[in-house]
Amino acid sequence: MASKLTLTLPTGQIMPALGFGTWQATDAELEAALTAALEAGYRHIDTAPVYENEHVIGKVLHKWLSSGKIKRDELFIVSKVPPSGNRPSGVDKWIKRSLKDLQLDYLDLYLIHTPFSFEEVGEELHPVDKNGEIKLDKSTNHLQVWAEMEKQVAAGRTKAIGLSNFNMEQINKVLTVTKVPIANLQIELHVYFQQRELVEYCKKNGITVTAYSPLGSRGLVKLMGKVDSLPDLLANPVVLKIGERRKKTPAQILLRYTLQRGIAAIPKSTNPERLKKNIDLFDWELTAEDTDELDALDQGSSARICDFGFFKGIKNHPEFPF
Ligand code: A2P
Repeated sequence: MASKLTLTLPTGQIMPALGFGTWQATDAELEAALTAALEAGYRHIDTAPVYENEHVIGKVLHKWLSSGKIKRDELFIVSKVPPSGNRPSGVDKWIKRSLKDLQLDYLDLYLIHTPFSFEEVGEELHPVDKNGEIKLDKSTNHLQVWAEMEKQVAAGRTKAIGLSNFNMEQINKVLTVTKVPIANLQIELHVYFQQRELVEYCKKNGITVTAYSPLGSRGLVKLMGKVDSLPDLLANPVVLKIGERRKKTPAQILLRYTLQRGIAAIPKSTNPERLKKNIDLFDWELTAEDTDELDALDQGSSARICDFGFFKGIKNHPEFPF
């Protein structure tokens, strides 16, 4: 079997290219799924306080770590500062909270989850007013927040730091002040929305890229009300045809394609059979003919699933990214 694919961060850390996504799973589902994922060989786990499940992940990790079944340095754990903590004073508070919930001493990678911020209203992750509009904090200052992120590396709470959902202009600004490199950018990326310009820009600047919704996240498509405009990637005839040719599932084709582009992917599955198949990517590869056909499926930003429209009024934030 060929060796597992990895990405090397600017810090020198090795990140497994295939990670386990944990958004949109209930506590019970996630506990079983994460156990199955660790058994299947997943070592890169992506989470965030806004997924409201770090305590579940912490419980499972604690079981595996305390029993000696796995060592901490074999894991690659990612978490994020939530929008409601996206201000200089929020970084220290939220990373400590994630570490406590995850029952860990340090993270491998800590990201700023979004370029926009919400007001701090107690512990609320998504504070809304009486009309249901999200309470925006429009004073977001990425440079000041980044400086606090760097302090977390110095304090040993995370080994690397990065960004999520930032656009090129926003990343460019952060790059003018970095003392600790931006190690990773996590963005929506899949075969219909290949983000070629942004990926190229990141490569040029030494920033690794992680794809969320790499399978086109049907649940999210429904949530965004885009079922009619965004067809199912997993049912795309070209993907199906390549799957038949290579004797692989459509999901394997999509994931292997992302990895072959040098991009990490964090598919979510709570189904033990599917999550096992999703990581079975390392002893075969797509040919140039396959990748040419998949390249041609790109539809650009019109295929974006997640425009954060589920936060009513989000477009009024000055850092609303798109
Ligand atoms: P399930 O958890 O029942 O497997 P994304 O990672 O793009 O957000 O997509 C996650 C969605 O894709 C989930 O609904 C998940 O459902 C589904 N999914 C994950 N792996 C596969 C697979 N191999 N085949 C079909 N659907 C999958």
